[in-house]
Amino acid sequence: MNLSNRTALVTGSTDGIGVAIARALAAEGARVLVSGRDTARGEKVAAAIAEAGGQADFVRADLAEGLSAARALATEPIDILVNNAAMLLAPQPTAEVAEETIDRALAVNIKAAFLLTGLIAPGMAARGHGAIVNLGSINGLNGSAGSALYSTTKAAMHSLTKSWADEYGPSGVRVNTVAPGPTTTEKTAKWDEHIAPLIARAPSRRTSKPEEIAQAVVFLAGAHASNIHGALLTVDGGFSAV
Ligand SMILES: NC(=O)c1ccc[n+]([C@@H]2O[C@H](COP(=O)([O-])OP(=O)(O)OC[C@H]3O[C@@H](n4cnc5c(N)ncnc54)[C@H](OP(=O)(O)O)[C@@H]3O)[C@@H](O)[C@H]2O)c1
Repeated sequence: MNLSNRTALVTGSTDGIGVAIARALAAEGARVLVSGRDTARGEKVAAAIAEAGGQADFVRADLAEGLSAARALATEPIDILVNNAAMLLAPQPTAEVAEETIDRALAVNIKAAFLLTGLIAPGMAARGHGAIVNLGSINGLNGSAGSALYSTTKAAMHSLTKSWADEYGPSGVRVNTVAPGPTTTEKTAKWDEHIAPLIARAPSRRTSKPEEIAQAVVFLAGAHASNIHGALLTVDGGFSAV
């Protein structure tokens, strides 16, 4: 298998797209560290992976807690880091966004990935191999009234990918972004009504499935992407291309 003998940490893999990423990496032979705040959901994801013949352990961390949380996730050598956890934010006028929401979104969506990469990438570099996949978003490619905060956090992930590719690439660590378009999960299904008119103009005419995002992550994390550094792969049915 593509990812045998690799340990992968997937932040935010207790729900949504992260679950599909954890499953897909495990299906390729990686041992997966499932992570999030919800122990019951996390242990269920890890158990389902084990039941399917894969290897997974759940490690709890609240990434809003900063360095202590990042340290709790970085206690062993990691070969694949997927910075997936994020707060999804409902559209809101800028003037109405609470300071606490700004601080929390910056902490969970950007700072946590920054700290984790700082803790994990040097070990990858010392071993001469590793892959980091950041989850961005097509929201990070363009401006959008009502989603200034969320879009900013996703654009930051796109930018971090390029800087980290330059910083760690020469040591054999590849860093790339997967930028999903609207993706239907249990949580986002309630927004489908609002998304439908938008997605109707995408070449695929539909939202993505979590498994489709996960396959892009598996590709960028694996040996088939061996000379891909600093790239952004959109998985959006062509939405951002037209
Ligand atoms: N769904 C979409 O349409 C879409 C589109 C573009 C980009 N994306 C990106 O794709 C990624 C996954 O999105 P999703 O739709 O799967 O989101 P989701 O369903 O809300 O899942 C978010 C995950 O992040 C974890 N998380 C949230 N806050 C956390 C915290 N403080 N500490 C630790 N973990 C935390 C959650 O776990 P707990 O609840 O257990 O803490 C959960 O596992 C995100 O980076 C998002 O920006 C999604």
